[in-house]
Amino acid sequence: MKTYEDLEGDGGSNIIGQVVQLGEKLRSRLDKIKHKVALMSGKGGVGKSTVALNLSLALAKTGAKVGLLDADIYGPSIPLMLGMKDAAMQVEDNKLQPPESNGIKVVSFGFFAEQEHQAAIYRGPIISGIVKQFLVDTNWSDLDYLIVDLPPGTGDIPLTLAQTIPITGILVVTTPQEVASSVAVKAIGMFDKLNVPMLGVVENMSYFECSKCNEKHYIFGNGGAEKISEKHNIPFLGAIPLNSGIMEGSDLGKPVMITQPDSPSAEAFTVTAKNIAAQCSIVAAKLQEEMQAETTPPAN
Ligand SMILES: Nc1ncnc2c1ncn2[C@@H]1O[C@H](COP(=O)(O)OP(=O)(O)O)[C@@H](O)[C@H]1O
Ligand SMILES: [Mg+2]
Ligand SMILES: [Zn+2]
Repeated sequence: MKTYEDLEGDGGSNIIGQVVQLGEKLRSRLDKIKHKVALMSGKGGVGKSTVALNLSLALAKTGAKVGLLDADIYGPSIPLMLGMKDAAMQVEDNKLQPPESNGIKVVSFGFFAEQEHQAAIYRGPIISGIVKQFLVDTNWSDLDYLIVDLPPGTGDIPLTLAQTIPITGILVVTTPQEVASSVAVKAIGMFDKLNVPMLGVVENMSYFECSKCNEKHYIFGNGGAEKISEKHNIPFLGAIPLNSGIMEGSDLGKPVMITQPDSPSAEAFTVTAKNIAAQCSIVAAKLQEEMQAETTPPAN
């Protein structure tokens, strides 16, 4: 059997050219997006999507242009959390036009209603293909932030995605319980081995905001994510309270950032979003420094 190395030329299909072209298309298309931030967690149910959405809205409130890519193909929950169940993605000039909600552009597998329940049969390469296509063939126009909600876990799919999307940095979302069970540490370890920069860690359901005594109750323990941050040398970027308003917001399609913008919960998202923005600037500046060092000939 012949391999690619044995082929003289490529038999006319120009497959190599096509792959190179796709890579270039991906890069040039994504050049217009300043920061690509992917959220991941060790397991599902830690509130990753809730955090991704409210952080996107908090960033948009600061005046930034924000896109949200729901890359959790197995459980696309962003459309429901935004009350966009009936929104459809239009195709114009061969490009997906991302529907907008509250000032952010959203792309989700959930908009393709019939495909939704078939997602479970898709395997890694197909899924990363779909997500790549969502990235490249979407008319994002220019964005300050593209927030990517990755599937949970440390399996092949989040791994492949994190590697195929040119990411500014990974944001790990944990809960105090998850910290205790060390799944989050596993997720961090996975990216340690790869060349994907870690942006920081956010602790969700960090404490209970008590409306009776106005104090924070640390029901699941205190300071777990901060310990992780110290141990692995990853910035701790914020703590989001456990609050029924956050949950109801997600379940009713009315995010807390929009319906209760002055609540302590919204404030927690705002503070975290600002820390993320600052961290993105630091990572981008470092990258530019590195690139300059590579292209500038040493002075002698
Ligand atoms: N800070 C929070 N306070 C209260 N409920 C939350 C909070 N974050 C998430 N939830 C709820 O937890 C459930 C799982 O959240 P979700 O964002 O879907 O998790 P994941 O994307 O990690 O699977 C949802 O019902 C959501 O409303
Ligand atoms: Mg989710
Ligand atoms: Zn209390």
